[in-house]
Amino acid sequence: MAVTGVLRPGFVQLRVIDLDEAVVHYRDRIGLDEVSREADGRVYLKAYDEFDRHSMILRQADTPGMDVMGWKVQSDEVLDALAARVAEKGVEVEDIAAGEQPGVGRRKRFLAPTGHHFDLYAEMDLSDQGPMVENPDLWRNEPRGMRAIRLDHCLLYGDDIDGALEIFRDALDFSLSECLKDPEGTIIAAFLTCGQKAHDIALIRHEEKGKFHHCSFLLEDWGDVGRAADLIARHDIPLDIGPTRHGITRGMTIYFFDPSGNRNEVFAGGYHYYPDHPTRVWNMDEAGKAVFYYERELNDRFMSHLT
Ligand SMILES: [Fe+2]
Repeated sequence: MAVTGVLRPGFVQLRVIDLDEAVVHYRDRIGLDEVSREADGRVYLKAYDEFDRHSMILRQADTPGMDVMGWKVQSDEVLDALAARVAEKGVEVEDIAAGEQPGVGRRKRFLAPTGHHFDLYAEMDLSDQGPMVENPDLWRNEPRGMRAIRLDHCLLYGDDIDGALEIFRDALDFSLSECLKDPEGTIIAAFLTCGQKAHDIALIRHEEKGKFHHCSFLLEDWGDVGRAADLIARHDIPLDIGPTRHGITRGMTIYFFDPSGNRNEVFAGGYHYYPDHPTRVWNMDEAGKAVFYYERELNDRFMSHLT
């Protein structure tokens, strides 16, 4: 199988209350590298094992939350074709000129029916600090903090999950790898993949539009999830839950908050998805086990704290 069309989550732009505190958190605790600070105040960062220039953008604002999540697509032609398919679903697509983010080509932006902005783009400069490609060592520089490998996925809350599913599945060719359904068969939580990961984005049904639950970074193994827990305790980072494991996707995980209250996850593991796999379905009476496999119950903060 070849990964075509949408390749992967490329970047997330988060709003933070205090930019300097946020940089310390994402750079020194999670372990991202600071790439640049631009004249408009935005700070760009990347994880050590990512080839592209940046994957995380921090913007100082009065309220926390997510401005936009970006998806890297296969080519310039595919960018136009996918944008046309999104527009055919009745969703307005906006052009963003090359250079609005440093090193990034033109983007196509749309507002999903859940109230979240998503960008599609084909071009981003390669980082000169990306993974080595000749006789490559594990890393160019020894990773810091939690040693995040890459930006992996986001989980977002919004009202029109069915409308968003139509965009992601029918226009962008994502697959529904896993879901949680209520007794009437309505999808409450949808886990969608554009490649072979268990998920690249998750969407939860919620009365408000445009809410951010977490962005997640991949770690190497269960040992590094434990090391993240040590750093969370050492630096008094507000903990949400974990270390534990998800039933859905099977990831080994820990959740915590950045200084502005945006939730972060670091995790390891999870199954591989192939497009011929059936969707795995959880019923609401097993929702506790689906989300937290060991505790087998949900915690109120995890369900209700959103930015
Ligand atoms: Fe997650």
